[in-house]
Amino acid sequence: MTAGSRPLVLVDAAIHDEPFAELEAIAEVKRYAHNDALERLITDRGSEVVGLGPLLSTRVDGALLDRLPSLRVVANCAVGVDNVDLAAAQERGILVTHTPHVLTEATADLTWALILAVARRLREGEVLARGESWAGWHPRLLLGKELHGTTLAILGLGSIGTAVARRGRAFGMEIVYWSRRHKPDLEHALGLRRLELDESLSVADVVSIHLALAPETHHLIDADRLARMKPDAVLVNTSRGAIVDEAALAAALERGHLFGIGLDVYEAEPRVHPGLLDHPRSVLLPHLGSATGPTRLAMARLVAENLRMVLDGGLPLTPVDHVTPAEPSRFPNR
Ligand code: DGY
Repeated sequence: MTAGSRPLVLVDAAIHDEPFAELEAIAEVKRYAHNDALERLITDRGSEVVGLGPLLSTRVDGALLDRLPSLRVVANCAVGVDNVDLAAAQERGILVTHTPHVLTEATADLTWALILAVARRLREGEVLARGESWAGWHPRLLLGKELHGTTLAILGLGSIGTAVARRGRAFGMEIVYWSRRHKPDLEHALGLRRLELDESLSVADVVSIHLALAPETHHLIDADRLARMKPDAVLVNTSRGAIVDEAALAAALERGHLFGIGLDVYEAEPRVHPGLLDHPRSVLLPHLGSATGPTRLAMARLVAENLRMVLDGGLPLTPVDHVTPAEPSRFPNR
């Protein structure tokens, strides 16, 4: 940065514009339309960049950070920060922020949309209602799973897992959870029971994943753990795709294990494993968990505020706890 020039901040162009007006008063905010454009900006002006506002699809690793020697803050436009190498940022004294809380309710709603869609076979029903072959009401047509009185297992009782549990009470479900930490207050308030992971999987009629992706949770739900689930259970994932081994999941579905699955996230987005695409009882969404107008605006506001506060010399509103991979305390608290 030359004397008198404003600090340079690079922000993904897909993030809502409106919240950036205040930041623009103190910084030059350059929007980039895709990762190639970011690459070009870094090649031309990398040494000037003090703030970065990426999407979760931008990998922010040590090699990228080395090209941004003046960088002070990465304000990720997501609650999940698995796209950012936190240890590399910490080594370089760079703050990382994210967008927790504002997307909790929207993501919990979408989780329930998936649970209901799978349990009540909405995808098959939709196709039938629109096609020529529906012959009218029939007592055995598309029988689904009853949720009332059955057991929901929540893996990861952070704020989204808790919001899903709260909704589960309204559906009359018994709720168990697995989390590294005991949460006695929530257990008491929501009538939850903490079980070990394998036991949660084996007692549940519906399993919903709300963990952060970290080395410890990569492929946590593998072939062995899928085999522990009831043969007619529902599995829903609205957190990160790589927590589930997709090839193992496709193989389990192929041999008729599980009632159905509801996924919003995938191992290699935007690609979806062909075995999941083909299955009639898979309900697949394109990573829509936080996709409501107010939530996405609130996420953009947090990105802009976090950048502005750090550039102003203060602390950001929602920093990510910097911990090394050897300290798994940051999962499963999304
Ligand atoms: C997140 O914030 O991590 C979601 O996956 C996108 O809202």
